[in-house]
Amino acid sequence: MYLKINPKDRLIVALDVDSEEKAIRLAGKLKDEIRIFKIGLELFSSCGQKIVEAIKEKGCDVFLDLKFHDIPNTVMKAAISVTRLGPFMFNVHALGGYDMMRNAAGAVREEAARLGIERPKILAVTILTSMDENALKKIGINDNMKTQVLRLAGLAKDAGLDGVVASSEEAALIREKIGGEFLIVTPGIRPGSAMLNDQKRISTPRAAIEAGADFIVVGRPITEAKDPVSAAREIAREIG
Ligand code: C5P
Repeated sequence: MYLKINPKDRLIVALDVDSEEKAIRLAGKLKDEIRIFKIGLELFSSCGQKIVEAIKEKGCDVFLDLKFHDIPNTVMKAAISVTRLGPFMFNVHALGGYDMMRNAAGAVREEAARLGIERPKILAVTILTSMDENALKKIGINDNMKTQVLRLAGLAKDAGLDGVVASSEEAALIREKIGGEFLIVTPGIRPGSAMLNDQKRISTPRAAIEAGADFIVVGRPITEAKDPVSAAREIAREIG
């Protein structure tokens, strides 16, 4: 594996809540089990940058899941601003194209070197795990899911990104075709009894790790559980 990761640190919890108070309460409960928390669009739009600081103050790392997708110059500038916040990783949409990804990767390297800080890892979202082939066809993509995901993963690698966000269904193929030094982060995780919600390409925690995922991202099965700490422990045990 590319990064040396303690098995229990492979579980990333998505803090998909709408206030700093709720996020801090959840992170406070889970911080002894979880090293990396994901801050996504809902939480970042509600609280702004201070939530990144607040999670880091708890001694945890942040995956800033803002999925940038814009013209190369705009994404490059946003990536520089994100670098200053010091997340462990953040992401862009591979569908934004090679130049967008390449410019962002270069700018992040330069900014981190200028600040003398560890460079955040940049991931490319391939195809959202909430989409299936039918949804792809509706936006004019007629290739099958695996072909499309692999194409985008290859593009991200060529552009100098550190890895991809991809479903467990494509993780093994990405690992096989793109090789070891490339992170795979897999959301759409549903332990046996959990509800699907809006996810379509799902897998169990164990299947995702066996397919080659370095990290799994779990939201509602933990955050909406009656006892989030036990739910997190159960998943950590399964992947450990
Ligand atoms: O609640 P659930 O476990 O479905 O949450 C999954 C999290 O992973 C959400 O925060 C979602 O935004 C994120 N995500 C995803 N699919 C991607 C990228 C990120 O589900 N391709």
